[in-house]
Amino acid sequence: MAAPWPPCRRLPHWTVCILAAGYALVQVHDCLSRFLAEPVSSHRDTVFMDQLPTPAITLCNPILDGPTVYYIVPEDDNMGMSDLPWHEFGNETIPYLLDVAAVGAEEALDDCRLRGQPCSTVGAWSRRLHSSVGDCFTFTPNTSEPIQLGDGYEVTFLLPSNVYGEIKEKQIMHALIGEKFIDLTHELGNMRLSVFVHPADEPFSSLPWIQPQEPLYVRSGERAEVRVTLEDIERVSQRHLPCESRPGYSSARCSLLCHAEAASAATGLDCRVTDMPTTAALCGNFANYSAVQRAFTTAAGAQAAMGECRQRCPRPCRQRRYLAALGSSLGQDETRLRQFSMRIYYGGEPVQLYRELWSYGASALVGEAGGVLGLMLGLSVLSVFEAVSQLVESIVQRVSARVGSA
Ligand SMILES: *[C@@H]1O[C@H](CO)[C@@H](O)[C@H](O)[C@H]1NC(C)=O
Ligand SMILES: *[C@@H]1O[C@H](CO)[C@@H](O)[C@H](O)[C@H]1NC(C)=O
Ligand SMILES: *[C@@H]1O[C@H](CO)[C@@H](O)[C@H](O)[C@H]1NC(C)=O
Repeated sequence: MAAPWPPCRRLPHWTVCILAAGYALVQVHDCLSRFLAEPVSSHRDTVFMDQLPTPAITLCNPILDGPTVYYIVPEDDNMGMSDLPWHEFGNETIPYLLDVAAVGAEEALDDCRLRGQPCSTVGAWSRRLHSSVGDCFTFTPNTSEPIQLGDGYEVTFLLPSNVYGEIKEKQIMHALIGEKFIDLTHELGNMRLSVFVHPADEPFSSLPWIQPQEPLYVRSGERAEVRVTLEDIERVSQRHLPCESRPGYSSARCSLLCHAEAASAATGLDCRVTDMPTTAALCGNFANYSAVQRAFTTAAGAQAAMGECRQRCPRPCRQRRYLAALGSSLGQDETRLRQFSMRIYYGGEPVQLYRELWSYGASALVGEAGGVLGLMLGLSVLSVFEAVSQLVESIVQRVSARVGSA
């Protein structure tokens, strides 16, 4: 028999040994459960970089948002979206609406420069009608060239007079629909353009459960300064809150697809609304269009899929996010109410770093549990090694003794 552990030879010693072992077990269990809870601490840092990634921008003209579309119909300005010429145009009805009732990017955004170069030479505009924010133009730079502090976009969004008719005293804007001008509900003086600044490699969505971001509003006739800050986020993947580290992964893209699938499943319709950047054909009649739109763009409609889509589309482990804030505005110029001018650039402290780190990792666990065992039971790596080698030795001795006596 191997000798009992030296301090535990007599009864009082045994008592102390058992108490110490019990206490050590409780402590080790506590360490282990803290480790398994995967606690995380976040660290925040502001860093200065003079080479910064070029963001994409989206400018949304609210003239065609949900409530306004209600008024935009040929012939009768008291008819709703249901009265658009669906019969005549089928799934081309919404593209038709965009053609007749609003300006395209070429006319509205002719005056745009990125890094001093005309936007049309360093990227492309795309257009999409978003039910909650209106008629949106997204500029995606096609260069990977960084920009510098204080540098960025100079954009003027123009409402051309051939589409947006004369401004009357009441300043109610008129829009040319087909052959005639009709009144729109917006007063031009209060008209705002929504501005979003976002990563160039992610699709844009204004739905907060897909891409939470607040727009900035630029008023007509204003010259606004929009200061951009980049958030560079690094997360750790916890069991209850995993993150996705695949390169090129975008949680917004994944969520758009997931919610689009859910809207199709919920309505049984294999067609899309303009908010969805998927490949299905646009819905071809009002009943189908509004059913899919309700399922996809309202929180109540999307509710059922939220849990599943959040699980299927975890947060990315490495993420870039832009924050934009309205800096000074040079006031409203009453003679330029058809213009929304803005400069979008990186301001003073351009990059905020967020790092998540394990606050109780494997080495902290080994350190603390080992400390407790050492203190309570006098265990160390050496004594454990010694005990094991003694055991092995005694086994070897016995076996060889038997072999010898046989
Ligand atoms: C970027 O896109 C524009 C317009 O699509 C094109 O004219 C230009 O050559 C492109 N530049 C690069 C570097 O790809
Ligand atoms: C939409 O609705 C009509 C009938 O209301 C139906 O015939 C059509 O197949 C539906 N689906 C799509 C994808 O438009
Ligand atoms: C309309 O439907 C046709 C046939 O399904 C399709 O080829 C076309 O791309 C659709 N157009 C739009 C704008 O979805």
